[in-house]
Amino acid sequence: MAKADFVRVMFNDIAHKYDLLNDVLSVGTHRLWKRAFIKFALKQNPKSALDCATGTGDIAFKLKESCEGQVVGIDFSQGMINFALERARTNPLPVDFKVADIQKLPFGDKAFDITTISFGIRNVENLDLGLKELGRVSNGVYILEFGQPKNSFFKKLYFGMLKMYVPIFGLISKRKDAYEYLIASSEAFPSAEKFVDIMKKNMTFKNYGYKPVFGGIAYIYYAN
Ligand SMILES: C[S@@+](CC[C@H](N)C(=O)[O-])C[C@H]1O[C@@H](n2cnc3c(N)ncnc32)[C@H](O)[C@@H]1O
Repeated sequence: MAKADFVRVMFNDIAHKYDLLNDVLSVGTHRLWKRAFIKFALKQNPKSALDCATGTGDIAFKLKESCEGQVVGIDFSQGMINFALERARTNPLPVDFKVADIQKLPFGDKAFDITTISFGIRNVENLDLGLKELGRVSNGVYILEFGQPKNSFFKKLYFGMLKMYVPIFGLISKRKDAYEYLIASSEAFPSAEKFVDIMKKNMTFKNYGYKPVFGGIAYIYYAN
């Protein structure tokens, strides 16, 4: 099965438990990381935003609190978008959600002030194409993604703990492979300078950089 199909089916299957498992697995810390990420992206003072791989819409809803223009969330999993739409029904701020693939975004060049993507870029089958699309449709790209801590002791400790702890949730969600995939993809995904180099290869912005979150368990990347 192609990586994109595996990822789409996996997220459709776990969509109904995604928010709960996220809170339990990260012991709530994903909320703090996302808050720091949004604060960082808002420094560009965007009026409009496209949140890619939006999942159940966490980032899109938060961005709309500060953007007076259009905020759109896209995801290629219909299951995840259904939960975002459900949340949108009771959220007082208007956010549009659509099913779309990051590798072929249905928007014109520079249609948004910024694009954001949180814990999604690691899953995109053709990373180069995905990054090109994120850069094409906006004037600034902000990415939050798992990586590897630079301190080798902390890195060993973190991945060791993850391998003991995460499979329990695989059993609860009945998609053991989903959580094996989470660990394997986080351990292997390029982070810090390596990822910035890949961004530079695929985008045409002036400024690039990154900021480690929680000792490098995750990173915030930017291009603008
Ligand atoms: C780990 S979830 C992140 C959801 C949300 N951004 C968050 O931080 O909670 C990853 C999401 O990426 C989506 N995704 C992966 N590849 C994609 C692609 N090529 N196009 C659109 N969405 C994609 C999945 O369907 C899934 O909802």
